[in-house]
Amino acid sequence: MRPTTRAMTLDDIEDVMAIERVSFPVPWSEGQFRDELRRQGEGRRWMVAEKDGVLVGFGGVAIFGDEAHVMDLAVLPAHRGRGIGRDLLLTLMRQAVAGGATRLTLEVRPANSAARALYASVGFVEAGLRPGYYSDTGEDALILWTPELDASALDAVAAADAAQDLVLAIETSCDESAAAVMRGGTELLSSVVASQVDFHARFGGVVPEIASRKHTEAIVAVVDEALVEAGIGLGDLTSLAVTHGPGLIGALVVGVAYAKGLALATGLPLVGVNHLEGHIFANKLADPGLEPPLIALVVSGGHTALVHVPEWGVYHTLGQTLDDAAGEAFDKVAKLLGLGYPGGPAISRLALEGDPAAIAFPRAMMRSGNYDFSLSGLKTAVITYVEAEKRAGREISNPDLAASFQAAVIDVQVAKAVRAAEEHGVKAFCLAGGVAANAALREGLRDAMSERGIRFSVPGFDLCTDNAAMIAAAAHFRLRRGSFLGLDAEAVAGLRL
Ligand code: KG4
Ligand code: ZN
Repeated sequence: MRPTTRAMTLDDIEDVMAIERVSFPVPWSEGQFRDELRRQGEGRRWMVAEKDGVLVGFGGVAIFGDEAHVMDLAVLPAHRGRGIGRDLLLTLMRQAVAGGATRLTLEVRPANSAARALYASVGFVEAGLRPGYYSDTGEDALILWTPELDASALDAVAAADAAQDLVLAIETSCDESAAAVMRGGTELLSSVVASQVDFHARFGGVVPEIASRKHTEAIVAVVDEALVEAGIGLGDLTSLAVTHGPGLIGALVVGVAYAKGLALATGLPLVGVNHLEGHIFANKLADPGLEPPLIALVVSGGHTALVHVPEWGVYHTLGQTLDDAAGEAFDKVAKLLGLGYPGGPAISRLALEGDPAAIAFPRAMMRSGNYDFSLSGLKTAVITYVEAEKRAGREISNPDLAASFQAAVIDVQVAKAVRAAEEHGVKAFCLAGGVAANAALREGLRDAMSERGIRFSVPGFDLCTDNAAMIAAAAHFRLRRGSFLGLDAEAVAGLRL
């Protein structure tokens, strides 16, 4: 797992001393560290890095007015070269900025090229020499400094780091086994989706037991293919990501277990992504300029929800379906008409030739005053209609039925989406989830939003249905916020946004 940084306490001193002794010819004494920790109130900030419960590095900074000085920075030899020193240093630099410093200095041995490379990489430049500084050799110290230290300079360093992120994302929440490799949160190097839909089609829907078995069979090959297509090996990755909910529990555990195994074997940090957040982030991939505050309509086989996103990572569910999800309604009506599974694509194709005004199906909850949806009544209305027509010996027009059913679903979704966007005063709206592939829904929302001057985003068709590219995009954002899964993490079927 990725190390975490936290403030140093007196209890850490023994471990800190051990690292200090193997790192420097003239180590600090225990008394010096105790003294430093007593002076936290006088601008001293000491941090440690911990990995799997072991203290692997530490560092400290002293702030004097607008100037700060890096007092010490060391990492256990076996853990060097993995960015731990860099994380510690950047943490100390942020603390110095927060403490009011605008310049930061430090001394380094001229021969210590690894340390000099680290300092240069975060913006330190040479300021001069301190003659005879090192008492063991009489060597001069090189003085380095960052003359214009501020939060935006540190943000620029973080952004440059982020651009180098190479994440492997895994998605197995329902009936697609998917893996994708992405650089810097936007550059998609590969996206592999192995759909199991053919194995479920003959049952008219996803069979959970089959889904988990098929994921188990496919996962190794899918991940391998994603790496090969991206032209990289496991050793090139900087992080791993996996959908840990919501979804079918037996399906989710396959991806989560595999990702945890990879994390254990590679030592890479593992990010857990909410499947619905993934669907929303598919929009960020399709439309990189999309920024909150926004409203998202997430419509898939398992979910129908209107979500207010004041900022990335913060999700307020305004309303959701009280019974069937939108995709589920499409699937059930398709089954009734003998159109096979999944039903959404079949219904939307048929609807192209039908008259949406042919049959007046109910617009449930249209005037409910809240943001909830109900779709099971519509499904029942379709069944009742079909039975009545059959009894009356009348021929049913499947295209008219499909178009009228689809219109009833879409009318309510568009009306509620518009109201949510207006009530929250957002200037952006995005559509996400498998049902976002529905052309009539896309057009209905696009028109309604553009009439009101609201930016409308929707992913391309292959990013609407389940895939791992969207999981990688969401993971990039979570990674920057340092939210990781431990090896004890479990899949959560009912995970909330
Ligand atoms: O997001 P997704 O791939 O899986 C879940 O997370 O549920 O969504 C699958 C759902 C299915 O119910 C499918 O019928 C529906 O999306 N769907 C559509 C269309 N394409 C897929 N629904 C309506 N119109 C479509 N064109
Ligand atoms: Zn989905």
